Amino acid sequence: MRIDIVTIFPEFFDVLDISLLGKARQTGLIDLGVHNLRDYTHDRHRTVDDTPYGGGAGMVMKPEPWGEALDGILRPGDDTPDERTTDHADAHTPLVIFPSPAGEVFTQAMARRLATEQHLIFGCGRYEGIDQRVFDDTAARARVRLVSLGDYVLNGGEVAVMAMIEAIGRLIPGVVGNPESLVQESHEDGLLEYPSYTKPAEWRGHEVPPVLLSGNHGVIAAWRHEQQLERTRRVRPDLLPSEGASEDSAP
Ligand code: ADE
Repeated sequence: MRIDIVTIFPEFFDVLDISLLGKARQTGLIDLGVHNLRDYTHDRHRTVDDTPYGGGAGMVMKPEPWGEALDGILRPGDDTPDERTTDHADAHTPLVIFPSPAGEVFTQAMARRLATEQHLIFGCGRYEGIDQRVFDDTAARARVRLVSLGDYVLNGGEVAVMAMIEAIGRLIPGVVGNPESLVQESHEDGLLEYPSYTKPAEWRGHEVPPVLLSGNHGVIAAWRHEQQLERTRRVRPDLLPSEGASEDSAP
């Protein structure tokens, strides 16, 4: 997968050199380009923001540097898609994601779909946001989505993009060594994950639940599923369609 990031803090993404994603870059599973938005300015101060039309607090990111940066990344050879804002549009055309608290909420299901894309472009906004015409202009040439990490406000898109790249990158086949470990984790089956234990069997007076030492895989699977349901009911009842439906899904 090719990933491009446009930001005024390119060094923020240096951490993508390390860990599983760093390895995925070394082996060629992920091809990353980080672009400094200020490289596309033409004034002495490398200005990327200005006061908002209509008044109001804060600054808005100017359209011109964004236009030039995205022109360079969305090369003329890239096709213009028919459906510009939908998930299922051609994964061969680039998808441009602008992190924004005004966007649709990022989920594990979205991460799974995005992991099948060939080219993702992330545009990190700062200040009060980016001039709306950047989204409109880009949507004429590529698929565009505004995506939010959650119902809170960050200072800019960089942290959100890091989180999205980590969630998406680990779902690209080959990035995580043992694909089995991707199956049994929170949100993969709509439930939170069950608690995990390792040796020793007793630690500071806390014992590992005896069922896990039983060697009976059927009983262990049933216990784990019950733990998932109990935890999800207690912590995230919003994930369960209804109490009745959750009981129906028990083995
Ligand atoms: N930028 C600022 N807040 C954000 C959020 N919650 N999600 C994504 N990008 C953001």
